[in-house]
Amino acid sequence: MTATTAGAPLVRVRGLSAEYLTRLGPVTALHDVDMSLEPGDLLGVVGESGSGKSTLSAALGRMLPGSCHITSGSVEVGGVDLAGLDRAALRALRRDVLGFIPQDPIGSLDPTLRIGRQLRLALRPLGRPGDRAALVTLLDGVQIREPERVLRLYPHEISGGMAQRVAIALAMAREPRVLIADEPTAALDAQVREDVLGLMVRLITSSGAALVWVSHDLRAVRRWCTRVMVMRKGEVVEEGPTEDVFGRPEHPYTRQLLKAIEMAPAAEERENA
Ligand SMILES: Nc1ncnc2c1ncn2[C@@H]1O[C@H](COP(=O)(O)OP(=O)(O)OP(=O)(O)O)[C@@H](O)[C@H]1O
Ligand SMILES: [Mg+2]
Repeated sequence: MTATTAGAPLVRVRGLSAEYLTRLGPVTALHDVDMSLEPGDLLGVVGESGSGKSTLSAALGRMLPGSCHITSGSVEVGGVDLAGLDRAALRALRRDVLGFIPQDPIGSLDPTLRIGRQLRLALRPLGRPGDRAALVTLLDGVQIREPERVLRLYPHEISGGMAQRVAIALAMAREPRVLIADEPTAALDAQVREDVLGLMVRLITSSGAALVWVSHDLRAVRRWCTRVMVMRKGEVVEEGPTEDVFGRPEHPYTRQLLKAIEMAPAAEERENA
């Protein structure tokens, strides 16, 4: 079991800066980012493409690619500084405390294994039942139709939207204390997106966990999240309770983002057009 300090916030990020080393030199992806998460927080992370949302999500589990380096600051999960953990401790923390739903769900699945086998392998180290009935229940939970059939398919045989739901089911099955979801519902149609988000939020809230939800869908963030963090060029330009950020945005960039959604038709309207 992973050691965490009682009473500490679930996540605390202090002054985090990170850069990618590229052929053309270093690219700053995060600059002096602070954030904290308490049980029950549903944090929406929004901001234009390239603003650092995925880099921050990955940094919460020290899952940055090799080309990305933390240049200053710290990430603590349950009061434990990730920089001080060895590989085994980090793996245990990812398994016991953190859940990730990646931006690329198909890429996160093993192409050589049927969906059923992947789910079973994910459940085994947790001591959770991995029989057919348990797997069907998992897939039912994310509204996959014909779950029996899907369990027998390989990742390349399912759609992007379905892969996303499988990735969500995999992450939720582990009942993480902090679920980090990077655009988890972008490929889903409006109704399923709404249902899957509702399900994620209910599970998170009832278990006293916290959600970090990276999204371009500001309407959905407003509807489901309790707090919002607005990022731009690697920095946090605004953070606060959802109603404050949406109702009384302080930063011109936030106002600009909000204006863009007021002018765009809702996804449901687009789909019905
Ligand atoms: N593998 C990489 N190599 C070099 N630079 C990268 C790499 N990944 C991201 N970056 C750069 O780091 C910065 C932050 O990128 P990041 O992917 O975190 O943004 P994002 O907010 O998740 O964007 P999106 O909304 O498009 O997913 C950007 O300037 C981006 O170009
Ligand atoms: Mg991203």
